[in-house]
Amino acid sequence: MASVTGLEGVIAAYTEIGLVDGELGHLVYRGYPAQELAVSKSFEETAFLLWHGRFPQEDELTALKKRMSHYRNLPDYICRILELLPASIPVMSALQTAVAALAEAEGSAWPPSLAQAERLTAMLPTMIAYRARRIAGLPALQPDANLDHAANYLYMLNGRKPERSHAKALEAYLILGMEHGMNASTFASRVIVSTQSDMCAAVSGAIGAMKGPLHGGAPYEVIAMLESIGSKSNAEPWMRNVLDNGGRLMGFGHRIYKTKDPRAQALRAVTMELTGDDPSFDLAIYVEDTAIRLLEEYKPGRRLFTNVEFYAAAIMRAINLSPDLFTPTFTAGRTVGWTAHLLEQAAINRIFRPESIYIGTMPSMLDNDLN
Ligand code: ACO
Repeated sequence: MASVTGLEGVIAAYTEIGLVDGELGHLVYRGYPAQELAVSKSFEETAFLLWHGRFPQEDELTALKKRMSHYRNLPDYICRILELLPASIPVMSALQTAVAALAEAEGSAWPPSLAQAERLTAMLPTMIAYRARRIAGLPALQPDANLDHAANYLYMLNGRKPERSHAKALEAYLILGMEHGMNASTFASRVIVSTQSDMCAAVSGAIGAMKGPLHGGAPYEVIAMLESIGSKSNAEPWMRNVLDNGGRLMGFGHRIYKTKDPRAQALRAVTMELTGDDPSFDLAIYVEDTAIRLLEEYKPGRRLFTNVEFYAAAIMRAINLSPDLFTPTFTAGRTVGWTAHLLEQAAINRIFRPESIYIGTMPSMLDNDLN
């Protein structure tokens, strides 16, 4: 039974979109190392690559940017949904609701289209900013068509044009979070679209999977952990206490990576550029080193290293995003990967229908049939 839980090692699809090599620590998008894309390409160029399998020509990139800046504007009824949901509803749940409702505007035609992928990707940051400002009691802002995707997101949250270094750091993070093979949310979205349900339903379902603390909810927990640790001297006793009580250190461990997560390493470099002198960065490095040592002591042979969420949290704090926006921001990047997978799934579709082995009791009337 143990091998069945979590579908570990089960092949669910052939894909040309991304490779995750957990033994060697490689993450490849359509033939290119993700770490290189994060520092050399824009959000829009990388999204184009994931959707089309090649980089855009200059005119194609200009056209994509223009379309996406146009698509940032939300239909009125989606704004009303984001306003009317009670403030106690977390941003991820509000997003899930709004994206599901977007099917009304997008239609439920099958197969899903590339234009829908572009629209959903363009709208997600607007939805997040709209909802975040509503909860904060601030007026909503219109998108700025002169800003690229990442910079516009920060503008719509904060109401001022972001520093270039902040927009670039966020862009690198969004790129590194775009795609990651058959992770829980991507798998969930492919399962939904395999029923010939629409792209909005599939992305809404993926957001539901992403929300969990074992998946996209982890960066929030990382910040809580770092804040609770507070100082270098408290790091080891704090983490020993967690591990002695059977708890988990957030931002460490991964189902696939049994070596350093390449995204964590790339983000560490980006974070260092932003906050090299900041004591919180110094503490994060110290906690990382101590955690890896302790995990080897407490969980020998499990090969637990830093995952992407650890430095994602550090980067988002450095650009002043509030912790409740960490998971939604990850979601905004991952929408590109989800939609690329949905287009791929639709092109070769066969409904997902695994089997289960019944291990419950049988009704006595069937005993004779089985004997
Ligand atoms: N802290 C302490 N122990 C851990 C951790 C951790 N962060 N991660 C795994 N372990 C231990 C488990 O307790 C288990 O020990 P055991 O063999 O004594 O029972 C062993 O390592 C294997 O753990 P599993 O739960 O089987 O590993 P799995 O592949 O199912 O889980 C996961 C991967 C969920 C990421 C896990 O490592 C974890 O919970 N990490 C903390 C949460 C986190 O950072 N999530 C973000 C992941 S990245 C992303 O989703 C984008």
